[in-house]
Amino acid sequence: MSEVIEVKHPLVQHKLTMIRNEAVGTKDFRTLVDELAMLLTYEASADLPLETVPVKTPVQETKAASLAGKKLAVVPILRAGLGMVDGILQLIPAAKVGHIGMYRNEATLEPVEYFVKLPEDIAQREVLLVDPMLATGGSAKDAISALKLRGATQIKLITLVSAPEGIQAVQEAHPDVTIVTASIDEGLNDEGYIVPGLGDAGDRLFGTH
Ligand code: PRP
Ligand code: URA
Repeated sequence: MSEVIEVKHPLVQHKLTMIRNEAVGTKDFRTLVDELAMLLTYEASADLPLETVPVKTPVQETKAASLAGKKLAVVPILRAGLGMVDGILQLIPAAKVGHIGMYRNEATLEPVEYFVKLPEDIAQREVLLVDPMLATGGSAKDAISALKLRGATQIKLITLVSAPEGIQAVQEAHPDVTIVTASIDEGLNDEGYIVPGLGDAGDRLFGTH
């Protein structure tokens, strides 16, 4: 079974509580989502491999740690995942960015894929798949399958708010994928919204209804 990391850091929990508040408008919502994405990426990247490299400081030559191994790709699930990309790129500026377009049919809650554009060398990269909301898990499951179909083998899913139903669905379909999230909420309501959640992340990020 894949690992689930719920990040309990006080800054993460504080900022998450702020974006749950329905009174927070688009501008602040965007800023906070960016900041949360950065903080979760710090946790998600804690196991990146290091190698020892020579470095000459102004004082003397030494050996010190440097990132080794696979390069990274950030892949947002459109639209709402876009709100997390800039925050991640502030930490990992050399990462390439792919896009997977997916929306939920509001009647069936089934995901519909409408766009996939990934770096050519996606198979050689560790992928951070990002979406603020993991509800039924349908969108994340299909996005992971789309990545695997194109050769990706090392994938982490970063979300802000997750429902237990979505976590279970991803774990069953993709036991190799680690999930990093700021919160595991109570569950889903009859309309497929996460409870207590934060509402429709895409609409709140982009000011649409
Ligand atoms: C939201 C969210 C996820 C999906 C989660 O996107 O950003 O992609 O729903 O739900 P699921 O786990 O039940 O699949 P939405 O379909 O609202 O599209 P949007 O990002 O374009 O607003
Ligand atoms: N998508 C959202 O944006 N919010 C939810 O609560 C569920 C799916």
